[in-house]
Amino acid sequence: MTIAIVSAMREELAAVLALMPDEHKQLAAGREFFVGHLHGRDVVAVLSRIGKVAAATTASVLIQQFGVKAIVFTGVAGGLAPGVHVGDVVVADEFLQHDLDASPIFPRYEVPLYGVSRFATDAALTAQLAAAAQRALPGVKVHRGLVVSGDRFVSTTGESRALQSALPDALAVEMEGAAIAQVCHDFGIPFAAVRTISDRADDAAHGDFLKFIEEVASRHSAAIVQALLAAPDDL
Ligand code: ADE
Repeated sequence: MTIAIVSAMREELAAVLALMPDEHKQLAAGREFFVGHLHGRDVVAVLSRIGKVAAATTASVLIQQFGVKAIVFTGVAGGLAPGVHVGDVVVADEFLQHDLDASPIFPRYEVPLYGVSRFATDAALTAQLAAAAQRALPGVKVHRGLVVSGDRFVSTTGESRALQSALPDALAVEMEGAAIAQVCHDFGIPFAAVRTISDRADDAAHGDFLKFIEEVASRHSAAIVQALLAAPDDL
């Protein structure tokens, strides 16, 4: 069974590719897909690209053209809930698009014609990913819960507070996960996602984010992916 490893950042993809001894590049939809093996498992590694539409295209191509049977996402996110700090890890149990609003025709956040606002990740794969994250990063706090996605880099304290009060159970904010969760729902493909918190989505977010990407994010995601794929569990 082929597993997709989707990374948000070039640095993260490079760290994953360094674990793949035999990958070769294939082009599709203007993207570079790296097909090969990691810990003996069939893997396709790719950059998600940034934003919901780009990530949805990447996920669709992975499923339809590369025949992947599961998608695992690694990336960074801004922390929203008070206890979610820079350097913590969040494993998503469900995703919601915080910038989706077709009201008054549909309730705020509801995805039109689906009748839901949240898409759950795959319970078994998510449990394995959370366990892998904890094994790979023993001193790090691993949270589980709601992650929200939108086509905005949230970089003001005002916007962060507004998101927290509108969606009090949201742990973190990023720009792709809910789109991939919806595509995986449509195709019946298991999806799991892990995000390291790079900033607090506040007025300092921009500087914190850039520093964090260089220093921590790529090491974190490669270590988590390695721990996940090295595990004896059936994926
Ligand atoms: N990814 C990492 N930090 C983020 C933020 N503050 N807003 C949106 N996406 C992010």
